Amino acid sequence: MQKFIITGGNRLSGEIELQGSKNSTLPIMAAAILAKDKCVLESCPNLADVYSAARILNSLGCKCSLVGNRAEIDSSEAEGSKIPESLMREMRSSIMFMGAILGRTGDCIFSVPGGCELGPRPIDMHLAALSKMGAEISSCGGEISCHMPKGKAHGARISLSFPSVGATENIILCAVLAEGETVINNAAREPEICDMCRFLRSCGAKIKGDGESRIVVEGVEKLHGCEYRIMPDRIAGATYLAMTAAAGGAMILKNACVAEMEPFISVLEQTGCFICAAENRIYLRRGGRLKAVRDRIRTMPHPGFPTDAQAILMAALATADGTSVFEENIFDCRYRHTDALIKMGADIQVMGKAAVIRGVNRLHGADVEATDLRGGAAMAVAAVGAEGTTRISCISHIDRGYEKFENMITSLGGRIIRE
Ligand code: EPZ
Repeated sequence: MQKFIITGGNRLSGEIELQGSKNSTLPIMAAAILAKDKCVLESCPNLADVYSAARILNSLGCKCSLVGNRAEIDSSEAEGSKIPESLMREMRSSIMFMGAILGRTGDCIFSVPGGCELGPRPIDMHLAALSKMGAEISSCGGEISCHMPKGKAHGARISLSFPSVGATENIILCAVLAEGETVINNAAREPEICDMCRFLRSCGAKIKGDGESRIVVEGVEKLHGCEYRIMPDRIAGATYLAMTAAAGGAMILKNACVAEMEPFISVLEQTGCFICAAENRIYLRRGGRLKAVRDRIRTMPHPGFPTDAQAILMAALATADGTSVFEENIFDCRYRHTDALIKMGADIQVMGKAAVIRGVNRLHGADVEATDLRGGAAMAVAAVGAEGTTRISCISHIDRGYEKFENMITSLGGRIIRE
């Protein structure tokens, strides 16, 4: 079991190039199934989750190769419609392949995706929407089968009770080759959905309204391959900005998606950091001590404050002057990282959806265990600014979403080794 050994105390400085977005890459790799052609993805991050997605594509008969940050996916011969149970277990978000496989073959079989570190991860909205598009859904012994009796989906008007990212993605993926028009009301507006729609339009899909709450997809006969560059990862960007805020110093994100990161930056600015964002670069400098964020930080669907940045910002606020309050509104249990931060000396009280963080002077190193992807990253954010050495175990969680994590931190002057 690998560990990160982090010795805190260095101020950070330097500039980094952001990896491609994990949460764009995964749905776009699923979307490539629909092209029945060869697609090339640039800025594809080298991540455990991306390797899992590649294994799913290959199990379906696609030819998927990853060389550096370039992925080549040829789905010409893909005929599979079953996602292997072992791969469903490996990556819960494999569920986003459902819409693409259904759209391509008219059938999809997969095992019920278990809960994960963030709590139960129901898929009721996914299944209800696909059923409205004509899918006959049955389940037996933990396996779910979706079947389009007419061989392909038909358009539908779908109103989501909650702007679910995954459900919005699955509906779009199933709708692009469906018969007729599909309208999604209360659609998720996350930037990664826009990235996936840009990719699909490059393949010939007809999609309007992505990034807004109402998306309209006009089904087409077929799609063709394309070359596409994945957008930068806004949560990885938030992570390195929060790390510099926690440790002190200054850094530049060289290829940031500034507009998409605005919901996070607008809160980070309230800590007293100097932030200058222009075009695709973000400069951050932390001079004196951080200040607590006065208003309650509520995680909300985009363009609200991103739930994926909650743990990361909390780690930085653990040593701010004053008290900050978070409210986690997206996932049932996304405070599992607080025990580790408390072990490092943070003063945090969790009460239901709320978490109250009273700033302390300094954190100290400790042996901690990563609980989930962003919770593990939060421990690293805390450790870089802490006094002494922190050992983070179970770092496979972190490797799911951060490319060259230790290289990035080292390039900023942080002291971290992978053991
Ligand atoms: C995506 O997960 C992201 N994952 C998550 O990022 C992110 O935290 C989340 O969106 C919210 O932004 C990927 O893109 C691979 P949801 P997803 O469907 O699609 C409930 C990370 O750290 N829900 O918007 O699963 C659900 O339980 C990961 O990179 C239902 O109840 O998120 C959750 O409470 C973590 N029924 C809420 O909605 C459904 O049918 C939001 O889920 C679907 C969802």
